Amino acid sequence: MDEKHIMAIEDAYLARVYQKFPVSIIRGKGAIVYDANGKKYIDCMSGYGVSLVGHCHPKIVEAIKRQAETLMTCHGSFYNDKRAELLEKLVKITPKELDKVFLCNSGAESVECALKIAVKYTGRSKIVSMIRGFHGKTLGALSATWNPKYKKSFASLIPKNFNFVPFGNLERAEEAIDDETAAVIVEPVQGEGGVHVPPPGYLKGLREICDRHDAVLIFDEVQTGFGRTGRMWALEHWNVSPDIMCIAKAMGGGFPIGATIAKAEVMNSLKIGEHSSTFGGNPLACAAASATIDVILGENLPERARRLGGYFKGLLEKMVDEFRILREARGLGLMLGLESRIFIYEVLMKALNKGLLLLYSGRNVIRFLPPLVIEESHLEAAANILSKIFAEEDKKLEHVSRKP
Ligand SMILES: Cc1ncc(COP(=O)(O)O)c(C=O)c1O
Repeated sequence: MDEKHIMAIEDAYLARVYQKFPVSIIRGKGAIVYDANGKKYIDCMSGYGVSLVGHCHPKIVEAIKRQAETLMTCHGSFYNDKRAELLEKLVKITPKELDKVFLCNSGAESVECALKIAVKYTGRSKIVSMIRGFHGKTLGALSATWNPKYKKSFASLIPKNFNFVPFGNLERAEEAIDDETAAVIVEPVQGEGGVHVPPPGYLKGLREICDRHDAVLIFDEVQTGFGRTGRMWALEHWNVSPDIMCIAKAMGGGFPIGATIAKAEVMNSLKIGEHSSTFGGNPLACAAASATIDVILGENLPERARRLGGYFKGLLEKMVDEFRILREARGLGLMLGLESRIFIYEVLMKALNKGLLLLYSGRNVIRFLPPLVIEESHLEAAANILSKIFAEEDKKLEHVSRKP
């Protein structure tokens, strides 16, 4: 199907809820994707962080093929070998206190489950969430998500017991968390909100406040998990464990799957029938996730994220020094943000034309979430493309004095 045709059909029939890039991606390998015209792109967004192991990793393709020929679906009310295999691997790589898993199909679903467990376990209903935090768009996850633009049309469906505090500010957290708080939910590094790394001691501080009030601490590692930040879990940068962790995105190597992982006593508060998912834990997704974990460990991808992330952040920092238009480069591993002083959409479109896929966080931050298998040469090429674009944009600001 040619590109025009693809776009016409999607524009006609797909719900208009996505801000579309004018490109059809039909094929991918590693960190490179191709459009319907055969044009090649360096992928620095990984489908919002999904293709962490690269597109169509042969080991994951093989695992999916094999399982597709064996058994695709098996409801959670039956036992299954691939599910058991995945559970064993997951529990081995997650913090040792977390040893009970609910399997689902997406990040938002993993958050829904986490909120339900926290409320059931504590018998309380107040949730503390973060300003600029993002947890998904189903109703529970949306309630914990900060951005008012996602919520304003649905205010009547959003409960009033979600309280938002500034990310990184322990004093404000201390004021908001009390003996009626069921849970605090936080991304260890905020993604959608603009790639914000917390100050040292922040997550540990949250842990202590939650412990003092017997509130549950939920880490949303949907975006930061599986090596993205240079450690298997972002929480390892600060050595803090939550009571519940949410994961998804990269988990299936491109195949949809998510999970909520909790301390046994916390998860066990849910009784039979209080939560479920028809597709959750299906053997096909489990086979994909199991192969993904093998690839991440086998190829030591967290370490690669650390090394390449350091290299690429260095290139971004050089640009910040060079161009007035840029404010700051930040992030961990291969989860990086570049904050500019202008609306970034035009820069993204120019990069797209030059064969580079990028993401934005809000109006003025470029978010980089490349596959961790990306080559150094691709990152160098990405930086060169951006440098040229920023040089042009910078000229437009010639009348502005150096840095605000
Ligand atoms: C931290 C975080 N939590 C939850 C979600 C929601 O995941 P999904 O889109 O799979 O529902 C996202 C998605 O971007 C996310 O970044």
